[in-house]
Parts: sequence; C-alpha cells; structure tokens
Amino acid sequence: MDTLVSLCKRRGFVFQSSEIYGGTGSCWDYGPLGVELKNKIKRVWWRDFVQRRPDMVGLDASILMHAMVWKASGHVDHFTDPMVDCRECRHRFRADQLDEVPWVHYCPATKGNKFTIPAAEACSHCGGRRTLCPDCGKGELTAPRQFNLMFKTFMGPVEEDAAVTYLRPETAQGIFVNFDNVQQSMRRKLPFGIGQIGKAFRNEITPGNFIFRTREFEQMEIEYFVNPHETVDGRPADEFWHDRWIEDCVAWFKRYGIQDGNLRLHEHARDELAHYAKRTADVQYRFPIGWSELMGIANRTDFDLKQHAKFSGKALSYFDEERKEHVVPFVIEPSAGVDRALLAFLADAYREEEVRGEKRVVLRFHPELAPISVAILPLLKKRDDIVRTAHALRDELSRDLTVVYDDTAAIGRLYRRQDEVGTAYCVTVDVQTVGATDKGEAADGKVTIRDRDSMEQVRVPASRVREVIGALLGGRPWAEVAAAAGGA
Ligand code: GAP
Repeated sequence: MDTLVSLCKRRGFVFQSSEIYGGTGSCWDYGPLGVELKNKIKRVWWRDFVQRRPDMVGLDASILMHAMVWKASGHVDHFTDPMVDCRECRHRFRADQLDEVPWVHYCPATKGNKFTIPAAEACSHCGGRRTLCPDCGKGELTAPRQFNLMFKTFMGPVEEDAAVTYLRPETAQGIFVNFDNVQQSMRRKLPFGIGQIGKAFRNEITPGNFIFRTREFEQMEIEYFVNPHETVDGRPADEFWHDRWIEDCVAWFKRYGIQDGNLRLHEHARDELAHYAKRTADVQYRFPIGWSELMGIANRTDFDLKQHAKFSGKALSYFDEERKEHVVPFVIEPSAGVDRALLAFLADAYREEEVRGEKRVVLRFHPELAPISVAILPLLKKRDDIVRTAHALRDELSRDLTVVYDDTAAIGRLYRRQDEVGTAYCVTVDVQTVGATDKGEAADGKVTIRDRDSMEQVRVPASRVREVIGALLGGRPWAEVAAAAGGA
C-alpha cells in the first residue's frame, strides 16, 4: 500500500486533501492522472451497464434530499456503528472491528515486554487476549455507544430542527424515490434497472487505508426492479436476477483486467445481512490490506419501495398487465465504490519487472482505463519539423483520446515515465518521419507506435495512427493490429 500511495502522490494520481494544512486522513483529492482514471472507470461502467443494456436507464439525483427519505429508509434510526474510546490515548474504534487490527500487549509473562500481536490472536507467551486499547495497550475502553454515520446539515439559513437534512450516505435512495417518475416517463416494463453514479458521504469512525474507506466517496449503483411473482428458468425472478448480476459484476472486473485469483465472492451469513436484505453477496478483492469488500450485490426485496410508499403516501408499485394486479417490485442492487474500484485496478495493474538488467515499474492498466491513452514523444526536440509533426499528431488524437506530449528527456527515460503511469501506447516522431533534406533522405511519413506491455514497436504512416490506436483500444490484440499496420 505504501508503494501505491507514494506512486500516486509522485505521479499525480491522488493527493491528501488539504495537505498544506496538515491534511485530513479521511479525504483524498484526485490529481490530473487520478481524475482521468476515475472518469474512465465511470465511463466504461456507465457504457456497459447503462448505455448498452436495453433494460437499463440512468439517473442523476441530488445529494440533498427531503429529510423524510432517511427516516423512511431506516438510516436515521439504524445507520449506526458501535463506537468505543480509549480512556488513555483517546483513540476511537469501531467496537465491532476491534479484533480486526493488530494489538499492542505488555506481556506479564515476560516482565511486561511490549509485543504487537496479529489481529484476533492470543499472546504466545502468556496466552492472554486483548481486553485493552489495541493501539496503546494500556487504556480501558469505554462501553460502546451507537454513532450515526450520516453527516447532518441544515437546509436554508436557520439552523433549527425543521431544517435538518443529511448528505446522502448512499445514492440508492435517490433511485427509489424516483421509481415512479422513471417508470412512467420511460414506459418501462419489468424487469428494468436504473443506474446512477454519484458522491456519498459517511462519517466513518475509522476511515483509512488510503482511498479504501473515506468519509466522502463515489458510488456506482444499480437498482434492478423485478416482478416477484414471475419465474425465470423455473426460479423466482429475484433469485434468478440476483445470480445473473453477481456473474455480470465479476465478469466486468475481469474484463477490465483484474486477475482471476484476486477476486472472490463472500456470501453474507444470516447475522451479517442488513435488515432489508434477503441475500447479499460481496465481491471481494485481494487488496494490499487483505481480502476486503470491493462491491456488494444485495437482494433488497420490496423493502425500500414499501417504506417510501408508507412514509410519502404515494403508491410505488407497478401494474402487471398480464395478471391485472399491482405489484411492488423486488430490487436487486449491485453497488460498487468508484474509489475502491480505482484502488483495485491500480493495485492489480502494478508490476515491478526487470528489463535488460534494469527495474521497470509499470501499471498494466486495461488500455481503455489507462489515464493516458497515448503519449507523443518527439525524438529530437531541436528539430522544428519533428516537434511540429508531433504537436499536429497530439492535436488530432486529443479530439477524443487522452494524450500527452513530452520532450523533456531522452526516449528511454520518457518510455519509463509513461510505463510508470500506465500509458497504453507511445508514439515517437523521428528523423525518418520528416526526412533530412541536408542528407538527401526523404521523409517516410511514418511514426513508431510502442505497446506498453510487450514493449514491441511498429512503424505506421502518421495518417493511420488514429485508426490503429482505435483498433487497439477497441480490443483487437496488439500482435494482430501490429502485423496489419506494419505491413501497410
Ligand atoms: N446502497 C448500498 C450500499 O451503499 P454499501 O455496502 O454500504 O452498500 C456499497 O456500499 C459500496 O460503496 C461498497 O462496496 C464500497 O465499494 C463503497 N463504499 C462504502 N463505504 C465506503 C467508504 N466509506 N469509502 C469508500 N467506499 C465506500
């Protein structure tokens, strides 16, 4: 994790928020490359799950909503974590996560020697288990108190109870309260889904592990509405669609490069399930901090629509033409964190390789996710015609691709710099491209495209670069495209 955090800061992916004031441990700012990576993750998610599916539509609901939304959803009363404080060092913990961190122990069997013992394990000398503060090993912990994770604020200039509202802790509720609007305006038949990407806020007791758990984050959520009275392949529709969404979500992460062995499913046990859920499966990723939740896929039943109908007095149901009856749809909810997905893609892409006796750090992002698609590198920055050609190429490609121009070092170093940030392809403009009239060498009008992963190169006419890069970004293998383009 330290390696990733340091790379992210050094190369402009992620900075600590308000760093010049000492920073906040719970918020992060995405730098020039981080915002490109984040936008690309969101773009492919939206394209694959909303735009390309005939059974999906999109929504962008507001962050501030009517306070009753959070009463109806259960967040005001139940969205709490148990919190304890150390009476000695004043550190604060989630009571239910105390045994998930290593703990400091002054062992009575070894004259009070200090040990740091792995999470949930007993001391191998005295056999003791943690009872005190895991951080200082000395302080008693207070009794747990329930702490609501929602950020409270006021709508309007007067800070009074009637004006209280909350920053949304999940984007989902914006979809539920708009169910009828979307269904009516888009004349949708079940099953159909609504997708949304947006910010969510939680006053986490113990944020941390870089962008894994923060107080402000982004979610990509889908609420997929199904008719609970229908069956698909002989199974209740909600159960069929739940399995289908689990498969689709896992396949999506693999499609964009996450390695098979780094993903697994975690089924929630009965006592782990949220009060509204019939079944929940988490997709876990092997993060640098260990296996942890990347996203959750829950069957929320008809809980939310019924709650909002009850609290608002407006029917949130669907008229089943076939059965001539009103039904309240069940909801399957694939819910992913953008920041967690970014951390997973980053961790999975990171490699340290040896190339001709030298270390190469490379981020092997899927080409569609690479923050920079193409780097244009002039081989000689003193030659005006080379620089002009390189700039013209940059102008042309930057119409619909993320492109950078760099002439600040020798080519070997420029390649390493681009590898380290995961740039999918480098294009070099050299003397042959523009010719050398003084030596009587004619221009061939070709440039060199270099593939980040194989480091192979192919010379193609400058006029065909957009087409070749387009084919590569569209998923055609390098070997095939290079063979076709190189032979052109
Ligand atoms: N609407 C359902 C819902 O919000 P959740 O499991 O609480 O479910 C869904 O959150 C996803 O949002 C998580 O799997 C995670 O990727 C992301 N997420 C939740 N809390 C987060 C936090 N404090 N920081 C970063 N991402 C978070």
